[in-house]
Amino acid sequence: MSNKYIEVISKYISNKRLQHCIRVSETAVRLAKIHGANTSLVQKAGLLHDIAKNQTPSSMLAIGIDVSEFDDCWEQYPSVWHALVGPQLIRYEFQDEPDEIDAMVRYHTTGYPDMNLETAIIFIADFIEPERSHARRLEIANIAEKNVNEAVAWITFESIQKLKAKKVAIHPYTQECWESYCKYGVNGEKWHTNEDTEDSR
Ligand SMILES: [Fe+2]
Ligand SMILES: [Fe+2]
Repeated sequence: MSNKYIEVISKYISNKRLQHCIRVSETAVRLAKIHGANTSLVQKAGLLHDIAKNQTPSSMLAIGIDVSEFDDCWEQYPSVWHALVGPQLIRYEFQDEPDEIDAMVRYHTTGYPDMNLETAIIFIADFIEPERSHARRLEIANIAEKNVNEAVAWITFESIQKLKAKKVAIHPYTQECWESYCKYGVNGEKWHTNEDTEDSR
């Protein structure tokens, strides 16, 4: 099953990025088995999630995909843009993929309030895949095996801290994700997210 995806996404991303996608897919399948999620869906979404990573509004338009509705995101949150337009590139390449894949790709960078289990698993897997170098990767990977919601809370916490430190604008979805998941275990730690800071996930 995976080969057709790898063949297609290889047209759009580097081998290094492809290897990351394979690790995200494998990590997501492992989590899906632990938590009783749909392994087939997370396997596909893991492979496809960064398909638009190297695209631009004009490269998408060149193949007939108008993503002008996301121009504000391109300007304000450039590292989030690839996630929001990813579903359209997936539709361009694969006409029969289940609709659930869209949300799993769209929210992999920012998270989103009340994600379904498979979408949350892709968000987590993108952060904890084995080659990620974040200092708390292993700790959060262990949390993810026990409690998906707590892992989402911690990843959102860490992402916002990093974005603030880099003084990169925080996308509203990231903020909303935090507001939705902070109750799941970040020990009441609070911060002000009105200082803008985004990530390169
Ligand atoms: Fe990724
Ligand atoms: Fe990404």
